[in-house]
Amino acid sequence: MTDKTLIELVGQQTQLIVELGEYAEILHWGKKVSGDLKSHRMALHRPVPYGRLDTDISMTLSPELGRGIFSNPGVEGHRGGQDWAPVFFISNIEHQKAGVVIESEDKIAGLVLKTELLLDSNDVLKTRHTLTNNKSDVYQVNRLANTLPLPARANELLTYYGRWVHEFQTVRQPLLHGGYQQENRRGRTSHEHYPALVAGTAHFDEMQGDVWGFHFAWSGNHRLRVDVKADGRRYTQAEVIYFPGEIALNQGESITTPWLYASYSDSGLNGMSHHFHCHVRETILPREFKDKPRPIHLNTWEGIYFDHDPDYIMSMATQSAEMGVERFIIDDGWFRGRNGDKAGLGDWFLCETKYPKGLQPIVEHVNNLGMEFGLWFEPEMINKDSDLFRAHPDWLLAVNDYEQPTGRNQYVINLQNDDAFNFLFERLDYFLSTYRIAYIKWDMNREVVQPGHLGQAAGHHQIRRYYQLVDKVRKKHPEVEIESCAAGGGRIDFEVLKRTHRFWASDNNDALERQTIQRGMSYFFPPEVIGSHIGASHCHSTRRQHSIEFRGLTALFGHMGIELDPVKEELTEKQGFERYIKLHKMLRPLLHSGRTWHVPTDDKAHQIHSVVSSDQSQAVVMVAQLAMPTCALSGHLRLPGLDPKAVYRITMLDKPGNYDDIVNYQPPWTESGCELSGAWCEEVGLTMPILDPETAILLKLERID
Ligand code: GLA
Repeated sequence: MTDKTLIELVGQQTQLIVELGEYAEILHWGKKVSGDLKSHRMALHRPVPYGRLDTDISMTLSPELGRGIFSNPGVEGHRGGQDWAPVFFISNIEHQKAGVVIESEDKIAGLVLKTELLLDSNDVLKTRHTLTNNKSDVYQVNRLANTLPLPARANELLTYYGRWVHEFQTVRQPLLHGGYQQENRRGRTSHEHYPALVAGTAHFDEMQGDVWGFHFAWSGNHRLRVDVKADGRRYTQAEVIYFPGEIALNQGESITTPWLYASYSDSGLNGMSHHFHCHVRETILPREFKDKPRPIHLNTWEGIYFDHDPDYIMSMATQSAEMGVERFIIDDGWFRGRNGDKAGLGDWFLCETKYPKGLQPIVEHVNNLGMEFGLWFEPEMINKDSDLFRAHPDWLLAVNDYEQPTGRNQYVINLQNDDAFNFLFERLDYFLSTYRIAYIKWDMNREVVQPGHLGQAAGHHQIRRYYQLVDKVRKKHPEVEIESCAAGGGRIDFEVLKRTHRFWASDNNDALERQTIQRGMSYFFPPEVIGSHIGASHCHSTRRQHSIEFRGLTALFGHMGIELDPVKEELTEKQGFERYIKLHKMLRPLLHSGRTWHVPTDDKAHQIHSVVSSDQSQAVVMVAQLAMPTCALSGHLRLPGLDPKAVYRITMLDKPGNYDDIVNYQPPWTESGCELSGAWCEEVGLTMPILDPETAILLKLERID
């Protein structure tokens, strides 16, 4: 095919102009502009400078060295050293409602590349490639990357870093020459390398600037890069890191990349988040529980750890129900040999010493109290000190004859071993079929080194088998909800969210830390999937101490729960839990369906978060004072996202216990409430009260006209 055609993919605000000829090139990906496509094309022809190749070289969706694209290639592989520099020509184009599927072929190399490019009505673009080997000899695939162009004005990045108990930290950096690269080789999505980034125009912020956000939906090793080519053009690339020899395609076989999700917004990060949140709600999240309010959890982990006594657990359940908890979850420690974190993983049989009367009385007790019951599993893991390992030492995901380091004293099970896979399914199925279990917390507490199957690298396939295991469990038990937890925060991405319902965002329940963790996560995920618990006043992971007000308000803006032993808590604390549970239940419909706004602040010591209902009739706002106020006065609270013409009644719903004692007086509106237009709230705002570090207030806005 040599004639060139122009096609347009159009979202609510976004336009993609794609030219299809021998290859596909995205000419424009940004704001929707009406007009004649041919004239627009004319405006975009590039000059050809001296000193480089004599023709204009396009940036395609899969850079090819053979075309003279000196960028990181989209396909790298070979067939016994041959067919290593493929050049693909479009052979077929299939127009779909939301986009286009382009098939390209390299007849010499015997390869076919299918590229899907789809833009939905929430302005989320998704793309992936499928590479097929058409020749008789095996084709070894080293790399297969998704590539999307960025305009030259995208010269700043927001990227993620982190670690266990300190996830979703963001950092800004210029994107001028060279580029950025992130590689995750930890075998799960990871705490360190959340697979997403944002590129934008200089100084883009929550409200302003053109931004292009990217999320690579894959729960294993990945590479993300943003390159500035020597000629100033830019592109983002996302790919799975394949280990040597891992992807070997026989004739007729294919490999498909994960989806790369991307979204353009002309109104900064908030605009981008709105696109991703809507997309997650409408397209990613499993449909089954769409309209079910997300039940408030009590998770036993930080309350009792491995110390399980059924009578005591039942008293915890009783107290939980009294506080308004709706789902009670028994965490780690309930199965054979599990008295600490050194043994037992793999032996998914109830520990009869700890539970001599079985699990049924507890499940019934929890159900009789009106709560759902949930149970913790870590299916992919095994301790060497377990009956399972003693019986099947060959079930480890490992390379024979090598010793690999343990992680939390445990190893990974090779899910490519069908016997192991079937055993795990059988065990999960047994519990889900025997007891009324509404939810499982699916954990994954170690990183993966040497993922070997039959001596060969198998990191990619291990992840696919994990998806298959979850899918099989869900198919048989569609009524069960699943939380994706990997030591809190270690397996959070769109692909896992297609088959789970909630993430355990972090093992850190420190409210101050949670403010930044949840903020980072909330750029891509709506609040209802962010598992967020009130922990004990002395945080177990930081040893910091926070008031119940600060802990309660921080947990409020997610899928809320409690993570402690209610039996041991003092009355005032319990009253606090009750209060925030009530507040959450009251606000839950709004929080879990409305539009999240990351509210700009005058003082960086604040973090302000609001959710506005989709009809703009109400909103809830949390002002968190993260650090000492920078100045004596803290500026104004200005609230975006309201109906400018509507009048709202603003009231304070919650404040720190010492709110009035730390100043001569606070702004009178916080006492009496006030009535203001949406336009005023956005443009001028309200004076900020003075708050101590590590405290917060909660405001409610209700439309009154
Ligand atoms: C991980 C999880 C915790 C808890 C423990 C149990 O760390 O993130 O919430 O379930 O495992 O061992």
